Formats: sequence, C-alpha cells, structure tokens
Amino acid sequence: MIRSRIVGTGGYLPARIVTNDELSRTLDTSDEWIRSRTGIRQRHIAAPDETSSDLALPASRTALAAAGVAAADLDLIVVATSTPDFVFPSTACLLQAKLGVRSCPAFDVQAVCSGFVYALATADSFIRAGQSRRALVVGTEVFSRILDWNDRGTCVLFGDGAGAAVLVADERPGIHATVLHADGAHAGILSVPGNVCGGSIVGSPFVRMDGQAVFKFAVRVLEEAAREALGRCGLGVADVDWLIPHQANVRILDATARKLGIPPEKVVVTVDRHANTSAASVPLALDEAVRDGRIRAGHRVLLEGVGGGFTWGAALVEM
Ligand code: UT7
Repeated sequence: MIRSRIVGTGGYLPARIVTNDELSRTLDTSDEWIRSRTGIRQRHIAAPDETSSDLALPASRTALAAAGVAAADLDLIVVATSTPDFVFPSTACLLQAKLGVRSCPAFDVQAVCSGFVYALATADSFIRAGQSRRALVVGTEVFSRILDWNDRGTCVLFGDGAGAAVLVADERPGIHATVLHADGAHAGILSVPGNVCGGSIVGSPFVRMDGQAVFKFAVRVLEEAAREALGRCGLGVADVDWLIPHQANVRILDATARKLGIPPEKVVVTVDRHANTSAASVPLALDEAVRDGRIRAGHRVLLEGVGGGFTWGAALVEM
C-alpha cells in the first residue's frame, strides 16, 4: 500500500524581530502582561515588500534540500495561508513560479491556523490515491498585514513566518492518520470579516477575536483531535514521542498537554519566540525540532491545528 512520508522540512522567519517592550512603547500593554497571559516574548515581522510567497520560497528550498528532492520533480504544491499575496492567482502558483518549475498542480488551502494540517492531509490523500509522488506542503503567513496595531487584544499575539515539508510516496508508513473537522457555527469568534468589492474594503480587514471563547474551544478540540488520530491507529498517548500543537498561547499548549497526559518536555514550543504564525506555526515548530535533533527518524509526532472557521485537525506522523 502506498503511504506518504515527510522526508524534509524547512522554515523561514523574516529578519525583523519585534519585542514586547517595543510594542509597549506605542500600545497600552507590557512585557509582563503579554508573557504571563501568552508566553510570547517576541515575534518576527515581514518587511513591507515581503509577501507570503516570498517567505514560502526559502522555507521550501530548505525543505527540498533536506529531502534531496529537486523542485522540478515536484508533482504537487499545496500552500496553506490566510494572508495570500493576491486574491488570485493563488500563493501556491506564485511560489511554483518562484521555484522555477511548471506544470504540476498548485493550489491554496484556507483553514487559517489549521491550514498546515489541512494541507498535509490533502497532500497525503493525493499520494495515497496515486495522484502524486512528491509533494511540497507549505504554511506561510504575513499576519502582520491583517492586524489592527491599535488593538492590544489581538496585535500582540501574532507574527509572520513560513514552514514547509516535502512528502514522498513510500511503502513504509509515514503519515499514519489525519483527522480534519470544521464547524462554521463558530465563525464569529475569530474572523477577518471583510472583503474587496468595487475597489473598496467592505467590512473589516482586521482580525477580530473573542479570546476567551477561542481559548476554551481550542483546548477542547485539541484534546479530542489528538485522541481521535491516535484511536485511528490503535495507539495511545504513551506512543507519542512529540506533540506539536498549533502555537497560539503557551497556556493552550500546557492545558492541552496536561489534559492528554503528555509531559511538557515532549511538547515542542516556539510561540515564545515566533508568537502565533497561523498556518506556519506547526511546520516551523516541526522544522526547528528536526534541525536541533530532538525529532529523529522513527519518532512519532502528533501535529495539531486549530483556528478560524472554526477548523481543527491532527496528523500522526512517523518521521
Ligand atoms: O490561532 C488561534 C488564535 N487565537 C488564540 O488562540 C487566542 C486564544 N485566547 C487567548 O490566548 C487569551 O484569551 C488572550 C491572550 C487573547 C487574552 O487572555 P485572557 O487571560 O483571556 O485575558 P482577557 O481577554 O480576559 O483580558 C483581561 C484583561 C482585560 O482588561 P480588563 O477588562 O480586565 O480591565 C483586557 O482589556 O487584559 C486586558 N488586555 C490587555 N492588557 C494589556 C487585553 N489585551 C491586553 C494587552 N496588554 N495586550
């Protein structure tokens, strides 16, 4: 039976680092408040001319190099983003052109902070169905563009970045199971409720969030999705080597690990340095832990996303 395996990862963060102290110079906030409520110390912010496809390019090149796969040999590109370069063409098509390749299918997935898990599940399905053998899956965001920098309740939480993974078809099991869910009834608790119409923005182009409702929802579904993915493989929590939940708030990570009974030292945390990079957070954390040697061949890694929509999901991956 053909399965998919992750054989290379990559990440990219824009050069500019913005600390909590820097934010507190223009905003009624403090390093103490942001750290104690979220665990965030700093975030990376893209340059004015840097777009999602620009961030995706170095992350993708690094993942391809790690995988030993040439861009020309890709037969699928899936990009998860909520901050695309344009309304269209898709960021995936723009990335394909920047990689200098042609012809393979390329499309975006929009599932906000669950985007990478959705994109990974999509590419996994293409590979299992025999439609693809070498896929590039990317999460990339310039969330700084959709933040109201006067709203201390949201702007302190997010950052920009990109993460990527290369999947290949293999007979050895790599991605053991994926689970995806959505419930549009909760669209209102986290949204950017605007669109472009007749040359103007209709509604709001900024993130709006009911933080406490999102917090409670996230902790509940992250636990449920983890148990569901493990259940599909007949595995238990003790079989997980690493937990990589979406990086939104260190309190959400701690609560999820506690409810699952996973010790904190098995949880990969980047939110302190990256803040919430939406669809990029999971592949960036995966790449960091692969590169620093924590995640090794044979380890079982549970990736989890949760975000606007509401959307959520998990993937149990053997590296
Ligand atoms: O990808 C998913 C995206 N989002 C999330 O995962 C966010 C989930 N939610 C959260 O992480 C938390 O709910 C927050 C970090 C957003 C907020 O933490 P909280 O403990 O739920 O605080 P709160 O919203 O109840 O606000 C407490 C106080 C309020 O003041 P009052 O009304 O008590 O006087 C806020 O106005 O903190 C105030 N506050 C701030 N103070 C300083 C809100 N933001 C800030 C800020 N600096 N940046």
